[in-house]
Amino acid sequence: MLSEGSTVNSAAQEQLVGPEPNRDPLAFHRRLTGYAPTKLVQAQKLADQMGVKQIFVKDESFRFGLPAFKILGASWAVYRAMVQLANVDSFGNWETIEDLKTAVSRLKPLTLVAATDGNHGRAVAHMAALLGLDSHIFVPDDMVPARRAAIESEGAKLTVIDGTYDDAIERSANEASRTNLVISDTSWPGYEDVPRWVTDGYSTIFWEIDDQLSELNAPLPDIVAVQIGVGALAKAVVQHYRRAASVKKTRIVGVEPVDAACVFSSILAGQIVSVPGPHHSIMAGLNCGVPSLMAWPVLYRGLDVMVAIEDDYARQSMRALRSEGIVAGETGASGFGGIIKLLESPDARHARNALNISKETTILVISTEGATDPQSYESIVGLQS
Ligand SMILES: Cc1ncc(COP(=O)(O)O)c(C=O)c1O
Repeated sequence: MLSEGSTVNSAAQEQLVGPEPNRDPLAFHRRLTGYAPTKLVQAQKLADQMGVKQIFVKDESFRFGLPAFKILGASWAVYRAMVQLANVDSFGNWETIEDLKTAVSRLKPLTLVAATDGNHGRAVAHMAALLGLDSHIFVPDDMVPARRAAIESEGAKLTVIDGTYDDAIERSANEASRTNLVISDTSWPGYEDVPRWVTDGYSTIFWEIDDQLSELNAPLPDIVAVQIGVGALAKAVVQHYRRAASVKKTRIVGVEPVDAACVFSSILAGQIVSVPGPHHSIMAGLNCGVPSLMAWPVLYRGLDVMVAIEDDYARQSMRALRSEGIVAGETGASGFGGIIKLLESPDARHARNALNISKETTILVISTEGATDPQSYESIVGLQS
């Protein structure tokens, strides 16, 4: 139950035999300037402290020059949306982003539109700038100045909505037109292609992790903890670890703030429910009141355990990750915050037992952002470097 902070999802299945995720997004990302796999950190000190075998942390604090993983989904979704808009199969054998910019110039005037609680909007604005397009980003009124400034630094027009992230989504959706292309990471009835591409774009993280683990001769993780806002990233986790070809039953833990636990509440209800805001968690990227429509069925069948965490677990996690040399912002650290709660809180006993956690267990978490609010980071952890 939500009041207990964790639940075991009895609807979870061994495998979801959906379409095999392909490596097209990975091939696309490899063609972009500045591509490099992010680090996979073996956090042995933390593993020892927590009495498990290994903890791996995928550090997404620097991806294509931005401080979060979201550019992976935004870039692939923008590319695919352009191909669709141009009514072509592909833009041919482009080699550099300049080639791509030339190829999409025939679609101008064109504005990329998105709503965001920070990272996705910045990523969309960044893609627009690279491609010589305009961008218009809608944000909730409680977004901190540092995140607003980061979006504007990409050349975007910024509109602050008098309301929550969910209100900003609604507003951005109303902007859709021939010259306004909405690039949303959440979906609603009739709007599914782009959010599907966003999730597909995130698959690059997991192909990289597979390669990195195999270079280390390490097994696939027993448990993956993933933080959830609208659920686009968690859907990518489920698609990767629950595909038919997966050789191991990796257990997947979804983590949300107690204040905005929309997937947790939906799992308890057995159907999508919304958790109206305003949401006040410091895990700003997770302050979402409604799961993505198309992520929901996959999450319902694919998440084994849900943990709802208080802000203090995010703070604790930020400090713990820092002790392993990882700079993680509040949302970035929240996946590991879920693991801390799972392992330490009496509230989580049932979920902990269901996951069979022991000193043989290997855990993977994704630190999805760096210090995107430096002032807050400093007050919680200290200076960044
Ligand atoms: C840093 C970070 N991590 C995780 C998430 C959650 O991703 P999703 O909304 O796809 O669940 C977000 C969403 O904004 C984010 O910014």
